[in-house]
Amino acid sequence: MRGGRQAVLTGATGGIGAAIAAALAPRCATLVLVARDRGRLDSLAATLAQHGPALRVVVVAADLSTATGRAAVAGAARALPGGIDLLVNNAGIGDFAWFEAEAEADIERVIVTNLLAPVLLTRTLLPLMHRGAPRGGSSVINVGSILGDIGNPGNVAYSTSKYGLRGFSEALRRELHGSGVQVQYLAPRATRTPLNSAAQDALNAELGTGNDNPQVVAQALLDLVDGGRAEMHLGWPERFFVRLNRLLPSVVDRALGRRATVVRRHASMNEGER
Ligand SMILES: NC(=O)c1ccc[n+]([C@@H]2O[C@H](COP(=O)([O-])OP(=O)(O)OC[C@H]3O[C@@H](n4cnc5c(N)ncnc54)[C@H](OP(=O)(O)O)[C@@H]3O)[C@@H](O)[C@H]2O)c1
Repeated sequence: MRGGRQAVLTGATGGIGAAIAAALAPRCATLVLVARDRGRLDSLAATLAQHGPALRVVVVAADLSTATGRAAVAGAARALPGGIDLLVNNAGIGDFAWFEAEAEADIERVIVTNLLAPVLLTRTLLPLMHRGAPRGGSSVINVGSILGDIGNPGNVAYSTSKYGLRGFSEALRRELHGSGVQVQYLAPRATRTPLNSAAQDALNAELGTGNDNPQVVAQALLDLVDGGRAEMHLGWPERFFVRLNRLLPSVVDRALGRRATVVRRHASMNEGER
């Protein structure tokens, strides 16, 4: 990845976000870090200061699910001279729940945070990305999930949001073809971060689901920026199941449908935690 970039990273203080911030820091001239909790943003900015005065860190404490929050990010990005080269839409929330027991407000929060917020933030920041593009191309990277390719029991609202984000990435990539702004989609598999509740972790352990460290996702993001691929899915056998689900969805229906009882047992434990 070429150095000297100006990047906006949402969800910067989370497990994956902090790993991405650390990976981007040596390669960026400016990093705009976004999350709601200012204290955690300030701590992260302090740890990134070790990269020296060549890195300018701007923190924006903003709730991206609100128009005011997105406007605050846009204001900070507009204040940077020369536009932005990289937007990483990484902020997201999980909600491991049995769909019929999931509160309407929780479903709405998942879809607004994981889908509507990155869609609207991208639209607001695109003029600044076009300004950055002449420096060698700019990128929007949307952090989705393997569950954006494989609808999963217990994660119906979450899968819905990530399928939407993948569709958004594909459609916008095609619309911006040849513009100098590329749109890429990164789909991690389960990753060890606070996003996963104890019940989700227990389900993953019972099912033997692979779990990555956030640094694996951060490295994949650098590879995506360098390689220019449209999409990257992490993990094996997850990549195989993504292909199988496209070719023979009824096979995956049966395999995941058989697990629904186990999922429901763990999801009902989660109701106590929420
Ligand atoms: N962990 C996994 O197993 C996994 C697997 C596949 C994909 N992913 C995806 O990876 C991305 C990062 O997840 P993670 O595991 O790092 O989660 P995390 O540790 O829970 O971090 C989430 C980050 O998003 C921020 N955030 C949440 N809601 C926000 C809002 N309304 N406005 C602004 N910032 C908000 C949080 O900070 P504040 O709370 O301070 O706002 C935090 O910085 C997400 O898109 C997630 O869906 C995760």
